[in-house]
Order: sequence, then structure tokens, then C-alpha cells
Amino acid sequence: MNDWIRVCALNELLPGEFQVAYDGDTAIAVFNVDGELYALEDVCTHDGGELAGGPIEGFEIECPRHGARFDLRTGEALCAPAYLPTAKFPVKIEDGMVWTRDDR
Ligand code: FES
Repeated sequence: MNDWIRVCALNELLPGEFQVAYDGDTAIAVFNVDGELYALEDVCTHDGGELAGGPIEGFEIECPRHGARFDLRTGEALCAPAYLPTAKFPVKIEDGMVWTRDDR
């Protein structure tokens, strides 16, 4: 899929917040970390848990289910029990809106 998906208005995604949007069947969580936006597939590669809503420290998010951590900037898995990265997606701001897409 190549069309951009509207996530929300930029003022609905403040630093420290996240929003989830769907590109087809792909759940994409967009995070605002200190004013920078990052989009990851909202799926933990350990056992499919949702990452959105997990605690965030710096650029790391912790899966609420069993504690795997991922780098919000890259999707890289940082500790067990996850070993594979979760998908990273592009994000842009246009016309005061936040957009992302599943570019795989
Ligand atoms: S589902 Fe995320 S750590 Fe197990």
C-alpha cells in the first residue's frame, strides 16, 4: 500500500502521547517523543502484544505484556523476550495533520 493514512491532527499528538491508525490490517502506532514523531507497527515480535500504551523511557518503549523493549526510532528489539525488530514506518506532517503508511 502506498497511500498515506491520516493519523490525527498534530495538536492531538503532543509530546509523550501516541495515536494508533490502521493502514488496511496494519496497526501503526505513532509516538511523539519530545516533538519528534516515530511510527512503528503496533505489534510486539515476541507474542503479538500491542506496544502502544507501554511505558516509554527516552526512545525505548516496553511491551506491556512481558517487558520486551523496542527502539522507537528504528523498531529494533533491545531485550528478550523479543529478538526481531518490529516494522518502522514513515511519518510526515502536512496541513496540520499527521500521516503514516505501511510502506512494505
Ligand atoms: S508480547 Fe511483548 S514481550 Fe511478550
